[in-house]
Amino acid sequence: MWNGRSVFSTDLRTTVLAATAITCLLLWLLWPSRTRRRCRWYFAGKTVWVTGASSGIGEALARLLGTQLGAHVILSARRVPQLQQLVHEIRAAGGRADCVALDASLSYDDVRRVVSQVAAAGVQVAVLNAGVNHGGEAFANLHAQQIDNVLNVNLRGTMFTAHALLTEATTLQCIAVISSLAAYRGLPGGTVYGATKAALCSFVDGLRVEMRHASHTPVHLMCVCPGFVRTPAIEHRQHPKPFLMEAEAAAWHIADAVSRQTAHYGFPWVMEQLVMRIARGCPRALYETVLGRTWHLPG
Ligand SMILES: NC(=O)c1ccc[n+]([C@@H]2O[C@H](COP(=O)([O-])OP(=O)(O)OC[C@H]3O[C@@H](n4cnc5c(N)ncnc54)[C@H](OP(=O)(O)O)[C@@H]3O)[C@@H](O)[C@H]2O)c1
Repeated sequence: MWNGRSVFSTDLRTTVLAATAITCLLLWLLWPSRTRRRCRWYFAGKTVWVTGASSGIGEALARLLGTQLGAHVILSARRVPQLQQLVHEIRAAGGRADCVALDASLSYDDVRRVVSQVAAAGVQVAVLNAGVNHGGEAFANLHAQQIDNVLNVNLRGTMFTAHALLTEATTLQCIAVISSLAAYRGLPGGTVYGATKAALCSFVDGLRVEMRHASHTPVHLMCVCPGFVRTPAIEHRQHPKPFLMEAEAAAWHIADAVSRQTAHYGFPWVMEQLVMRIARGCPRALYETVLGRTWHLPG
């Protein structure tokens, strides 16, 4: 038997579903162009320093900034030939790029000498991305030198660079520190690495407040936490890499976060919100049981 009410509610349901689908489609279509516009607006004409630019995320970010977003990029790392090649590529595409060698594991004076050159070039945004990890090895199997290197580059090097920037670079507006989702909760095989990245998040949180209250230097401090990104650093690792993304996509996420001047940004969304945030709040016994069953150390 015909029922007028149910036909009306079916129509209404169809209309609501169709409207939701169209809205999602429009958002999906328009969001990237909005992100691109905002990034271009923010970075065009700015001088941006990217450390760790000789490979992986730093290389992809420097390429994006120099070839598509109109920034003058200054690239740093230890492998100068790789940097020079990227400088060439960016200039050939009509962009502005320069490079200066940096070994972030050296003394404060060495780091400061490099920072002085970057400061003289009028750096406005610094992305402190240089970092190393210890290849998924169990802590007990690491050599003291490996532990020392991870601590030196990730923590000491980043802090020295940030300190030198804040004292030397008068044009500076923003420091973005690249941490990791590994900072959210301890992971087997990532003990020293995760500890350095967690320390960086804590460092940035405290420093941001300090800088907000230092009226003479309105420098914004932010922390960016990527999930798994396909780069030479993790390419050969055997452990699971859920929601692995390409370095180019990671570069867009970082550029977008900097252009929005967020305080803390983790990506990809599913990994940050659904996996790592839940892991952070998860009872210890459950967390350790799940990890114990799913995570196998090499060897
Ligand atoms: N890939 C991921 O899944 C992932 C996830 C979360 C966070 N991250 C973080 O993202 C950043 C980039 O990592 P990536 O995956 O792109 O690794 P990558 O391809 O190995 O790049 C690391 C960069 O850091 C530089 N670097 C290493 N030691 C250095 C030193 N002593 N002084 C100066 N620069 C040094 C390297 O250049 P030289 O060797 O030429 O010096 C290289 O350019 C790191 O901080 C990493 O912890 C990566």
